[in-house]
Amino acid sequence: MADSLGKVIAISGSMRRDANTDYYMNIVLKECEKEGFETELIPLRNKRIEGCAYDLCAEDGDENGYSYSHCGYQHPPYWMPKYDVCALKDDFWPIFEKMKAADGIILGSPVYFGSATPKIKALIDRAGICAEARGHYIRYLKDPEQKRKAQEMIDNATPEMRNWYENGLLYRKVGAAVAVTRRTSANFTWAQLMMFFGICNMIVPGSIYWPVSIGGALGYRTSRGEYQDPEGEEIMEILGKNMAWTIKKTKDIPTKD
Ligand SMILES: Cc1cc2nc3c(=O)[nH]c(=O)nc-3n(C[C@H](O)[C@H](O)[C@H](O)COP(=O)(O)O)c2cc1C
Repeated sequence: MADSLGKVIAISGSMRRDANTDYYMNIVLKECEKEGFETELIPLRNKRIEGCAYDLCAEDGDENGYSYSHCGYQHPPYWMPKYDVCALKDDFWPIFEKMKAADGIILGSPVYFGSATPKIKALIDRAGICAEARGHYIRYLKDPEQKRKAQEMIDNATPEMRNWYENGLLYRKVGAAVAVTRRTSANFTWAQLMMFFGICNMIVPGSIYWPVSIGGALGYRTSRGEYQDPEGEEIMEILGKNMAWTIKKTKDIPTKD
């Protein structure tokens, strides 16, 4: 879409082909489209996303014996990310590139045993650790040599990277979450997804109710049109409108209201 105002992506943690999660996220995306945004639904079901490997992906230790992973989430002294690719070679990085390029990010998941699905949790862990702002850690380093080394990394960084150190890679993007369930734990799962935005320096719009939907006794039937949750649909529509409005406000694009 050549004249789009920006892009909103929705990442679905469902493992089902005709997923309720996708169904509700598409309602949110549709509202964003109506407001002039390009949209993309990214299902994780066919993707391989491993959990964060922490120590296991670190390079050999430096002269002080400290190992150093690409995302920088390793033992002090530095804590400073390289902001290049995650060392684990699976389907994560191309999706993370889309997150970095988007103006709005919607995370969606069905409830699996009271919780978000392992795949979207793995994505959250890796995206969060790669995107975090770490520049402020310097202020809390006690060892002068550690402080000097960390400062040196920031001083030698490009202006773009310096901005990332201060604010993180997803700074002031707009985030929203959607959770679906057969019966319970939708709020808990929604809250799990929402936690991501709070640590990534992002901005979150709301709706007229928490954006969750209950599928009832046969939860899988909603996406097949065999079960309706009109209130859930309205909640998603308003979430989409609020998401588009918030992106416009943060990008100084005029709004109707
Ligand atoms: C492994 C697994 C665990 C589930 N656990 C719960 C649960 O704890 N509570 C619940 O109400 N529904 C549970 N469900 C049902 C799904 O949350 C429900 O069918 C949902 O609508 C599926 O969404 P989807 O179509 O987007 O995958 C579970 C389903 C699966 C496959």
